[in-house]
Amino acid sequence: MSPAEDKRQFLRDLQNQLGGSIPFERWMREALYHPQFGYYTAGIRAIGRRGDFTTWPVLHDSLARAIARWALDHKPAGRWHLIEIGAGTGELAAAVLRAVGWWNRPRYHIVEISPPLRAEQQKRLGRKVQWHDSVAEALAACHGEAVLFSNELVDAFPCRIFRKKDAAWRELALRMDDGRIVETWRETPRPESTAFAHEWPEGQRVEVPESFHRWLQEWLPAWKCGAMLTIDYGDSCPALYHRRPHGTLRAYAHHQRLEGAEAYAGFGLRDLTVDVNFSDLQNWIGLASEVSTLTEFLARQRVPGHPSLAGAGDAFKVLTQTR
Ligand SMILES: C[S@@+](CC[C@H](N)C(=O)[O-])C[C@H]1O[C@@H](n2cnc3c(N)ncnc32)[C@H](O)[C@@H]1O
Repeated sequence: MSPAEDKRQFLRDLQNQLGGSIPFERWMREALYHPQFGYYTAGIRAIGRRGDFTTWPVLHDSLARAIARWALDHKPAGRWHLIEIGAGTGELAAAVLRAVGWWNRPRYHIVEISPPLRAEQQKRLGRKVQWHDSVAEALAACHGEAVLFSNELVDAFPCRIFRKKDAAWRELALRMDDGRIVETWRETPRPESTAFAHEWPEGQRVEVPESFHRWLQEWLPAWKCGAMLTIDYGDSCPALYHRRPHGTLRAYAHHQRLEGAEAYAGFGLRDLTVDVNFSDLQNWIGLASEVSTLTEFLARQRVPGHPSLAGAGDAFKVLTQTR
């Protein structure tokens, strides 16, 4: 069987196992993280000009300089640990290490799920960094005392999608039907999310990355003290869905943004992502926190913005938390 046929067979088998359709969260998890077919685990070619999407650190080092200053503000006396979760190409890590300076150098830990990206990070960073398979493992290496950060991690977590219809919420599942991918909607128990707490018009779609909430619960109790920075595109709720009745799901392939049903095609070959609901993050993490725009964060860290930042300075939010 060709790789494409293998993939189609895998999806057909999964659909049969699950009773005729695949809940969107499962679809997204397999499309991004299936060991053989997943975009991050097997398909990703690069981040940046040669890849499907670009992230801010690949374009410019201002974010790295701001993160370094923020991390130094939260550094304990003596030996300290910095954990980056989801490090992409490793460019951000390299720039953060440069910006903190060798005299302040932390023990730098990376938690990375993608084998091809981890290999690229290892090529770039060599022995400056220790890699881990999970945040719990990284925290164990720091006795629970660490400064943590991530950039564009949360948007890569599989999410559940709901639509309001006849005043009730129904959840999205996808069904393959004669080569077409068809949306189906069914009533399911709702996850905990601020997205359901507002008066939305009929047809509104919302996304809930419940998998991120579960993932947090696996390691938050092991984090004893420090600070955490979460950077991503998104907003608080309900601003997140203002004038976005179809929600925020999209795919990226060769820097093209694909929305609606087009986002379902190209299983495993494209990045799939949603905007982050920062109100949910604040509730789920439950620590003292503050959300600002990236522009405000850079200004606070006294790092000048950059022309290539353009609209991203407001579209990106920065959540800071301390424990
Ligand atoms: C959109 S990329 C962002 C990469 C990088 N932070 C940047 O700004 O260029 C998402 C990154 O998170 C990683 N990732 C996704 N889920 C993860 C998880 N559960 N644990 C660790 N890394 C994860 C991906 O493999 C990838 O490196």
